[in-house]
Amino acid sequence: MTTSTDPKYVVLKFGGTSVSTAENWQHILGVIHARLAEGLRLVIIHSALSGVTDLLAGFLTTHEPAGARALLAKLRTVHVQLANELTIELPLAVAQQLDALEALVAAQRLGLGVDDALRAEVMASGELMATQLGAAWLTKQAVPVAWVDARTALTAERRGLETDTAAVLSATCGYGPDGQLQKAFAALAPVIISQGFIAKDSIGRTVLLGRGGSDTSGAYFAAKLQAVRLEIWTDVPGLFSANPRAVAGARLLQQLHYDEAQEIASSGAKVLHPRCILPVKQYGIPLHVYATQRPDLPGTQISAQPLGGHSAQVKAIALKKGVTLVSMDSPGMWHEVGFLADVFQAFKQVGLSVDLVSTSETNVTVSLDPAANVLSPASLAALKQALSSLCRTEIIGPCAALSLVGRNIRGILHTFGAALSLFETEHIYLVSQAANDLNFTFVIDEEEGDRLVEQLHDLLIRRNHDDRVLGPTWAEIHAIKTPTRIPTWWEVRRADLLAFFAERDAAYVYDRQTLCAQARALRGLKSISHVHFAMKANPNADVLRTLAAEGLGFDCVSRGEVEHLIATVPGIDRDHIVYTPNFAPRAEYAWALSAGVQVTIDNLYCLKQWPELFAGKDVFVRIDTGRGYGHHAHVRTAGTYTKFGVPLAELDELHRLAVSAGARVTGLHAHTGSGNFDVHCWLEVAEALSDVATRFPDLRVLDLGGGLGVPDTFDKEPIKLEELDAVLLAFRQQHSAFDLWLEPGRFLVASAGVLLARVTQLKGKGDMRYVGVATGMNSLIRPALYGAHHDIVNLSRLGAPATGSYTVVGPICESADVLGSARELPDTHEGDVLLIATAGAYGYSMSSRYNLREPAQELFLV
Ligand code: LLP
Repeated sequence: MTTSTDPKYVVLKFGGTSVSTAENWQHILGVIHARLAEGLRLVIIHSALSGVTDLLAGFLTTHEPAGARALLAKLRTVHVQLANELTIELPLAVAQQLDALEALVAAQRLGLGVDDALRAEVMASGELMATQLGAAWLTKQAVPVAWVDARTALTAERRGLETDTAAVLSATCGYGPDGQLQKAFAALAPVIISQGFIAKDSIGRTVLLGRGGSDTSGAYFAAKLQAVRLEIWTDVPGLFSANPRAVAGARLLQQLHYDEAQEIASSGAKVLHPRCILPVKQYGIPLHVYATQRPDLPGTQISAQPLGGHSAQVKAIALKKGVTLVSMDSPGMWHEVGFLADVFQAFKQVGLSVDLVSTSETNVTVSLDPAANVLSPASLAALKQALSSLCRTEIIGPCAALSLVGRNIRGILHTFGAALSLFETEHIYLVSQAANDLNFTFVIDEEEGDRLVEQLHDLLIRRNHDDRVLGPTWAEIHAIKTPTRIPTWWEVRRADLLAFFAERDAAYVYDRQTLCAQARALRGLKSISHVHFAMKANPNADVLRTLAAEGLGFDCVSRGEVEHLIATVPGIDRDHIVYTPNFAPRAEYAWALSAGVQVTIDNLYCLKQWPELFAGKDVFVRIDTGRGYGHHAHVRTAGTYTKFGVPLAELDELHRLAVSAGARVTGLHAHTGSGNFDVHCWLEVAEALSDVATRFPDLRVLDLGGGLGVPDTFDKEPIKLEELDAVLLAFRQQHSAFDLWLEPGRFLVASAGVLLARVTQLKGKGDMRYVGVATGMNSLIRPALYGAHHDIVNLSRLGAPATGSYTVVGPICESADVLGSARELPDTHEGDVLLIATAGAYGYSMSSRYNLREPAQELFLV
């Protein structure tokens, strides 16, 4: 054990990309100076240069001398190039290593039959050469550095069942506090540089530590030296709440417990190897992860007592793809002693390792992790065979395992309500709650994985502002957000807006130009013949007139909407109005048919009970394609548990009823839900409708509904209209008999509208800070009803730095009267104007006079 007078070590591990450029070595130098200034001694562990491990692996198996020499030449070039970049001579030791490799070629020792010991020897040369370069450059920078061969410090320990190959190529070392090593290092320079990935065994042979070996080396050194900290320097700034390449809003995890980090690392995050956590956890050594290129960033700090560590929280959403499920049915398994033992014996027999398990009286389902198994058709067939005498086996896949990760997750299951509703339309094959209380996992169809991760992340993490744990997003870190963002109309017209608003307390304001731009974007879709505005989103008179002038038709859902439209846009052609009511009374259909608008029926009841109404008429029929999509359960409008549409199972009857009523079905319609970004939603609808189209000879229109999503924050990507157009054009080429129609609401108006509200009062209570504004859920009910997010800024102080996190509330007597939680705002005062963004859709149209407070009135900026 160390005493207070012993030197204190920090172990820094740098990955391959971190040590492969001169620029990164400058960053490393900065870190070294900073740690020396802390009074610490340093042990730097690093990997081979980028690409070298692959070159060496290729070199080992190339039996042609010419091929091996070509690889050797490449190896030499990689090292010489870095030496040149660093303006140092190629160290002699590197040249000697290369010569030793050349000698292997000459002695014809390479090729397929290379033994494990030679393999380890050759692979180790990558780390040995790289660290020689590092040491030489640091010496040139006057850093007091000593190069140490890691094989003199780390010794592999044999484990019971380990094979010889594993003992040499994937070795495990002892890491108890090592007084001798501490003493030996104390006698050397204050900065020691050594290799990751390599060690020796008890008889002095070189061994490798396997995948992620350099992280593990760092952890071994840290434990042996009882370091004050292990720092892992890599090419990303830490662990994230989701894969940042798949989820734009993924946030840096600033504080984690060892167990959480282990769980995230094990679920596929490549930043940290899970094996490196146990040695540091065992001795309570904090582990920090940093980005070599951005030493200014806070990174991830992993310890036994992370800040915010006692409150349970979902910290990451991990997705593992390529998972296969094995479902085993047998009525005889209930209370049958040894049934599971027999089943698992079969898995052992065919060499497959099981991950998740779920059991019932008659079924056992297990998952097979692709990282731990070779899942070939042959291995699965062998498994089926081995199980055949025990049960009926079904193989299900490809699936994805989606895990919510965080400590004490059982304690917060009740908070997952809204998130769980996302699974409403998905098939969940298996749910598993980890025995260590660190994850909650769902196994679903693989193709649903990415979408669900993004949506769950949105609900459970992105909006959660416990800033001690959740840091900036990937986009913020890379400063993609601010410089490249095109300013919104309300930033450009801020002065106009404030002037317009001067005498008011609350108002919706719409921007004509944005409205026109959105309309033109949709009119530009070559695949779509007609766009109808779903006016329920915003029936403001100026909005309707503007969109009519842009050549749009209208989708109405009530007699009130149709009459309001006709009164507002008097000359409107009845052909430009579709009327798509739901559970409307008979009289309303009669009225609509006589008014000459295009009527859509969404229930066979109408044809069955009121056939006379539809005799000789052209009707559209709303079909339930069986699967809903949308930002919240309330806005997913297809599937058995929604009230909309004629299910596919009733199509024969539909055909019969239409014929007997004398009605012509000229259009099929489907709207699966609202707030979607995946263009395949509409393709899926088009395909489902065209599949049933053959039954209706008069059919000419497929109306694909609305539902086009609009980003509710700056960091989200808008829907890709070009991609939508491309997939639908391809569809039309196959189905040229039909015109495609769309009827979006939100897409046309959401971003064109904002809600302005004046600050009335401020209040602090406990650790909460509230900003009160003049209107609330009576004007904008979306946050209360759907948990919807609207960005909020202080328009009076736009651009001023945020100084605190506030909850923005209205004056309504309900606790749900919250417009935004935990919003970063500048110092805010009574009389300031807050702007609630993306409020042009389903804002005023869903407002009320609740509490007898008039909702915000509407203003139209031309
Ligand atoms: N067509 C039909 C048949 C619809 O029911 C709807 C919306 C639309 C089109 C337009 O959907 P959009 O493009 O606006 O997503 N109040 C919720 C949205 C409810 C949508 C109801 N139906 C919200 O504020 O998110």
